[in-house]
Amino acid sequence: MRDPKLVVYGDAEHARRYALRWDSARGRARDARKQRALAAAFEHLAPFTSVLDAPCGAGRLCAFLSTERAYIGVDLAPAMLGEARARQASARFAVGDLTRLPLADHSVDVAVCVRLLHLVRERSLRVAILAELARVARIGVVVDFRHAAALRTWLGRLRARTGLRARPHNAHALSSVADEFTAAGLGPPVFVPVRRPAWLSDKMVAAARVRGATRTAWETVGVAGAGQSGPDTPT
Ligand SMILES: C[S@@+](CC[C@H](N)C(=O)[O-])C[C@H]1O[C@@H](n2cnc3c(N)ncnc32)[C@H](O)[C@@H]1O
Repeated sequence: MRDPKLVVYGDAEHARRYALRWDSARGRARDARKQRALAAAFEHLAPFTSVLDAPCGAGRLCAFLSTERAYIGVDLAPAMLGEARARQASARFAVGDLTRLPLADHSVDVAVCVRLLHLVRERSLRVAILAELARVARIGVVVDFRHAAALRTWLGRLRARTGLRARPHNAHALSSVADEFTAAGLGPPVFVPVRRPAWLSDKMVAAARVRGATRTAWETVGVAGAGQSGPDTPT
């Protein structure tokens, strides 16, 4: 089932509000925590010089990920990409679907996927997305997800049970995430909690190496107009 939260991003007003969310003090604190966890996860991969940020949304992680690296952000929603381009005029963005990324095999070093998988409730679709990230990456894949064993997730479950939430969070045990990585053809993941201590952290970052990839030149990826305008139609 498609999470309703995934549908709203096509709306320009929603995209604008989403972009503004990260400008607040709370948004900046969340950014700092996520960036710390991502940086720790990157330590488990080889050094890298190109990165895919998918979905990039309103470009929240663009400045962090693109520092001293070739960057491309991909998202299904043109409204979100509009916000991203308004904030990061010099970055490369393209419209694309995470199940069919507009990139050649092994054309970026590392593929990063933040704030998506916790909204994808079907295992088969999560595995398809992980496999697609693995297809385009040469070194590794880094994702975040909601951890089933964290106190904050447990409190969310309680709220759902008592009617204070419409439904429980879509959360996963580390072992099931590791299974999904294997099913997608990735190596075993390392896990980094976004908050400390780990039992408090509902969000986890997982990083794994891609098995047996060799590099394709960045220039051959065939992302039409990836500078300022992506392919016309999301796939
Ligand atoms: C919660 S936002 C996260 C964006 C960004 N990673 C961040 O941390 O702000 C989820 C994004 O996923 C995008 N999205 C939803 N389904 C997608 C798909 N199948 N392919 C690519 N992007 C998708 C939405 O347009 C939205 O921008």
